Amino acid sequence: MLDISSIPHINAVLNAATVVLLWIARRHVKAGNITAHKKTMIAALSVSMVFMGFYLVYHFNSGLARFGGEGFIRPVYFTILIVHVIGAVAIVPLVPWAVYHAVKNNRATHKRIVKWAWPIWFFVAVSGVLVYTMAVHVWPCTGPCLASGLSLPGR
Ligand code: HEM
Repeated sequence: MLDISSIPHINAVLNAATVVLLWIARRHVKAGNITAHKKTMIAALSVSMVFMGFYLVYHFNSGLARFGGEGFIRPVYFTILIVHVIGAVAIVPLVPWAVYHAVKNNRATHKRIVKWAWPIWFFVAVSGVLVYTMAVHVWPCTGPCLASGLSLPGR
């Protein structure tokens, strides 16, 4: 049986895999290999769907990992987190919209959408790994910053 506390670690690996897949997919399209671009993007979409599943299960069951850093690092962390969340909300309609136009072979529209969708998605995946590393490994919350009833991932 899967331990709920291991989900943030799994999700960080899935985010890292998305970063790599998005990068490879971008390189394929630059090299003119559309078939490979399509396959890599389908892989990135599949990984992201598994991520979403785990993300929802975790947040409905466990809550949030609290950030334990103090001083200048707090506004840095929360700025990254807020931009990450805004980006994550933005890609929910943008990515399916990009896929729709790719499937319909509306290349010009696909290109217009992905001009925004690809960098936002890439940033969301990179910043996902970053906030995980900051909150879980570098500045974990111990003691009073831990709200009652919330358990830290991996503890
Ligand atoms: C899974 C189905 C997909 C297919 C079949 C597909 C197909 C294509 C095709 C045919 C092109 C070349 C357009 C052209 O130069 O005329 C292209 C470009 C591109 N696609 Fe996709 N794509 C898919 C998904 C995605 C997704 C989900 C993203 C990111 C959100 C994405 C990002 C890009 C990027 C960044 C380019 C380069 C655009 C440029 O050169 O300005 N693709 N895609």
